[in-house]
Order: sequence, then C-alpha cells, then structure tokens
Amino acid sequence: MTAAREEPKYERDLLVQLTRRWGKRVAVKKDELDLDGHFDAALPDFPEHLVPVLALPGADRLDRDARERILSAAWISYNAKTAAIEDEIILPACRLMLQERIPVRRDDVAVDALHQTIIDEHYHILMCHNAVGVTRRRRGLEDVRFAPGVWSVVRGLEAVRVGLSGFDRDIVDIAFSLAAETTISGFLSTLATAQEIQPMNRITTDLHRRDESGHAVVFRELCGSLYRNLDGAQREMFREALVTGLTAFRSADLDPWVTVAAQGGFEIDTDQLSEWAASRPAPARDTGPLQLLLDDLGISHDLVEMVRR
Ligand SMILES: [Fe+2]
Ligand SMILES: [Fe+2]
Repeated sequence: MTAAREEPKYERDLLVQLTRRWGKRVAVKKDELDLDGHFDAALPDFPEHLVPVLALPGADRLDRDARERILSAAWISYNAKTAAIEDEIILPACRLMLQERIPVRRDDVAVDALHQTIIDEHYHILMCHNAVGVTRRRRGLEDVRFAPGVWSVVRGLEAVRVGLSGFDRDIVDIAFSLAAETTISGFLSTLATAQEIQPMNRITTDLHRRDESGHAVVFRELCGSLYRNLDGAQREMFREALVTGLTAFRSADLDPWVTVAAQGGFEIDTDQLSEWAASRPAPARDTGPLQLLLDDLGISHDLVEMVRR
C-alpha cells in the first residue's frame, strides 16, 4: 500500500521525468551536426541588429567586406562568451553541488541530473568550439580569440567573490550559476530564432537552447532545496548574489566589441560603447523563467524589479 501511495509522488518529481528522458532528449546523444553542410558562405554569420558596433558613428562608412568580417567575429565572440559562462560559472557550480558539504538535494535522481547537466554543459563548450572552428577556417579569422575573464558576467562573479571564502563563497557561486541558467535560454534564443543568418549558427545555437530548458528545471529544483536549507543571513547572501548575477548578465560587454570591430578595420574605444549603451533603454526581456524561479524559492517578486532597475 505504501509503495502504491509513494509512486505517484515519484512520478510527479520533475527530475525523475527529466533524467529518464535524457538519452533521447539532449544534443550530446544525437548524431553530430554536419557543420560544413549547413554553412552557406553567402549568408551573414550574425544578425546586424545585435552588433552595437555597427550602430556607432562611422560604421555607415564600412564596406560590405568589413561588415561581414565584423559579423563573423561577433559570432566567434558570442560562442566564446557562451563557453566562458559554461566553464567559469555553470560547471564549477554543478561540481560544487555534488560535494557533501553543500546542503542540496542529493538523492540518486538529483546526482543523476547533476552528472547529466555536467555532460551537457561540457558538450556545449565542444559545440561552440567546433562551430567557431568552421567559421575561423571558412572566414579566415584564425586569430580572433577572447580570454575567459573579458566578459562582464565572469567579471561580475569575480567581483562578488572578493573577500569571501568557504561556505559563503560556495553560496555565491551557486546563486550566480542560477542567474546564468535562468538567463541563458533568452541569450541563446535571440540567435536560435534568427532566420536571416547562417544555418549552421542558428541550428547549433538552437540545439544548445533546447538542452537549457531541462537545465532550468534542474537548477530550480536543486537551488531551491539549497536555499530552503540556509539560515537567514545565508539566504540574504544568496539573494544578493542572484540579483548581482542577473544584473551582470544584462550589462554590456565592452572590450570584446573593440576586438570584434577591429576585424573590420573599425577602430572604436570602450567609452563610445558605454555611451551608446547608456543612451538606450535596457532591452525588454522575458522575466517568466525568473518569476517561476522566485516562486519556487519563495522569494518576493520585488527582486525582479531590483534587477530591472
Ligand atoms: Fe549550456
Ligand atoms: Fe545549462
């Protein structure tokens, strides 16, 4: 009788559903995409409207070849940023949540979900690497490289960690990764839905985005269990790091755009980009995933407003 009553609860467990379907659902379990087969040299590598550099004074004088090189470099930059988010923010937090000292849900299903997520995220880094490899070769952009610490999100994590050690630092790392996992789908969707660009770029980003919808559930479930086990001061620290993370994901990257512009022989400086970013209203975004998360954690929606400011 007891087993019969328990089964429906097990069936309702979202992580059970996700982990069971993992082998049929995720990119790493599918045949590898024929990248060159989906590369059409005549199509742009990145949407023009997502490249702030092309909105700066002087950009209208760039010829077609320069603009195309800038778009290709923007695609390389986009993947370098994605890989840095995975490697610097998400993967370390997944491994942390497998540690005994972190009071997070750790039954067999939760451990499965974490290992599956680690495999997915590492595969996403490889997908970015392979797609960018084709772009470098086909567009002659072998030398465009970005250090992992150049992105505002990675800098944001470094800044929020200053002076912290031990468990406090663990909390901040995990809260920051939760911000990343709540935001990354939106970041990928802008490209996954861009019909005017290179099919290889759209398809590879879409494959990644599909995996992220599962991760959002894993992170909500695991971070929710962690948050409920924290005391008042630790919860406060978690919330602050979450807001800092969400804000960092919305802040403009500066130095990488200077590198991107240089590929088209367009010399700009970071002040021009900051002025441009400050003069524009923050882009609208879907706060649905964030609100779901806050409901799960029992955190007030005021936090959404804090991030919007
Ligand atoms: Fe990912
Ligand atoms: Fe993810």
